[in-house]
Amino acid sequence: MNLKPATLQSIDEVITHYPVKRSATLPLLHLIQEDIGYLPPDTCEWVAAKLELQPINVLEVVTFYPMFRQKPIGRRHIKVCRTLSCALMGGYKTCEQFEKEFNTHRGEVSPDGEVTVDFVECLASCGTAPVVLIDDDLHEKVDCAKAKQLSDQIKAEAKKR
Ligand code: FES
Repeated sequence: MNLKPATLQSIDEVITHYPVKRSATLPLLHLIQEDIGYLPPDTCEWVAAKLELQPINVLEVVTFYPMFRQKPIGRRHIKVCRTLSCALMGGYKTCEQFEKEFNTHRGEVSPDGEVTVDFVECLASCGTAPVVLIDDDLHEKVDCAKAKQLSDQIKAEAKKR
């Protein structure tokens, strides 16, 4: 597993916070995903060795929680809320607009590698539905026009790179 030295240090430290090593499973998985962007195939074996578990114990956690990704994602992660308020206010259409803009489908990396569009559950901003999280930035009242505007912004930023 190719982790940054700072991540390896955090992992070793976080393990000391728990009286039982296996309790560090979730924090370790979060740290790895933060570093690499997803959980590569050798994650379960690696975490299991660290925490003196069987790989299957880690796999159970990875597959139980939807926030863990087992495939790489695009450079930008567009998360569209699909819970009730957002769904009623057009969240599905917003999501389709992003898919169209980047010629991609939910859960896949766009052909240019720039984005992954996903549905997520309530982002705790139901009063300003539909809501979209792009990386760590929350965007409110994202109708199709605003989705297009945000997409143009992402494309313009990508060109500058
Ligand atoms: S339903 Fe979308 S933010 Fe709560």
